[in-house]
Amino acid sequence: MGLHISLCHPGVDPTPWLAGLRALLPKAVVSAWEPGAEPADYGVVWAPPQQFIDEQLQLKAVFNIGAGVDKLLQLRLPVGLRLVRLDDAGMAVQMAEYVCHALFRHYRAFETYEQQARAGYWLQRPPRPRADFPVGIMGMGVLGQRVAQAVQQFDFPVRGWSRAPRDVPGVQGFHGVGALDAFLAATRVLVCLLPLTPDTRNILCRATLSRLQPAAYVINVARGALLVEDDLLALIDSGHLAGATLDVFQSEPLAPGHPFWTHPCVQVTPHVSAQTLESDSLAQIAGKILALEQGQSVAGIVDRTRGY
Ligand code: NAP
Ligand code: GLV
Repeated sequence: MGLHISLCHPGVDPTPWLAGLRALLPKAVVSAWEPGAEPADYGVVWAPPQQFIDEQLQLKAVFNIGAGVDKLLQLRLPVGLRLVRLDDAGMAVQMAEYVCHALFRHYRAFETYEQQARAGYWLQRPPRPRADFPVGIMGMGVLGQRVAQAVQQFDFPVRGWSRAPRDVPGVQGFHGVGALDAFLAATRVLVCLLPLTPDTRNILCRATLSRLQPAAYVINVARGALLVEDDLLALIDSGHLAGATLDVFQSEPLAPGHPFWTHPCVQVTPHVSAQTLESDSLAQIAGKILALEQGQSVAGIVDRTRGY
């Protein structure tokens, strides 16, 4: 196969990615992009510079080494250039375990028990009915549905919010802007798994978070720009929200001195809820390149008008 694949993953050692692609596609020429490089047939990228797109004018498709394409869509892209995002590739199970951990930590008051243990203090708190902790998942796509499945295993009521109707067994579905208030009113633990698009930027703000049930808890594992951070802090401090687990932030890395680092009701992690797995991702991308070369359709094609 006389294909040329160009890898552009700034700031990351390309060696294992190049080796992986060469092993999976032995007839292809695989190289790390540099300015002025030969035109390639396929790009495999994460946050490439505009120059990559401007110079690589013969690309049949660009594969994004991640599920979210918000960074890619900030670039000026040729009309009709196919973008393909990662479709699970080992991230869904990680997301399910991260969200379940945050949910259990909050619901079972593990943080309080850890504090008690450090103080040598024995106190049994009464169990809380899980019916009082309905979990609402914003974004019922590949990751949101896997999270819903995991949370259901522990008998929490589950709600889902999407753009179009989604019929997911055991999940009370809501869709569209018109149903957002009803979804929020039916949610005590909010999990955000929306893509960042013009429609979703700042969607978690005072107006929406105020509509959650009293003492609600927020888990944002999607993108930081979905959340108005000051609004979240104000609602925690006013007592309307019980707290939050946040994996993503308006600005990353989270700035030194940011109130999230030390707020007693906020847990932070450094954008690790679902990490890109090199071998799973490469296997998926190589398989899709072969499928496209054979004229087959592939999952994960980005609809640029929707922004995801
Ligand atoms: P996906 O399969 O494309 O699912 C997106 C979901 O969001 C769909 O259910 C979609 O509705 C819904 N949605 C989009 N815009 C909406 C709107 N305006 N109103 C209501 N619902 C809307 O994406 P995914 O693979 O699950 O990934 C979701 C996001 O997770 C990614 O975009 C990325 O930003 C983030 N992520 C974060 C990490 C991390 O480590 N923190 C890792 C991976 C991914 P429809 O079903 O109607 O289309
Ligand atoms: C990570 O944040 C991703 O979008 O895959």
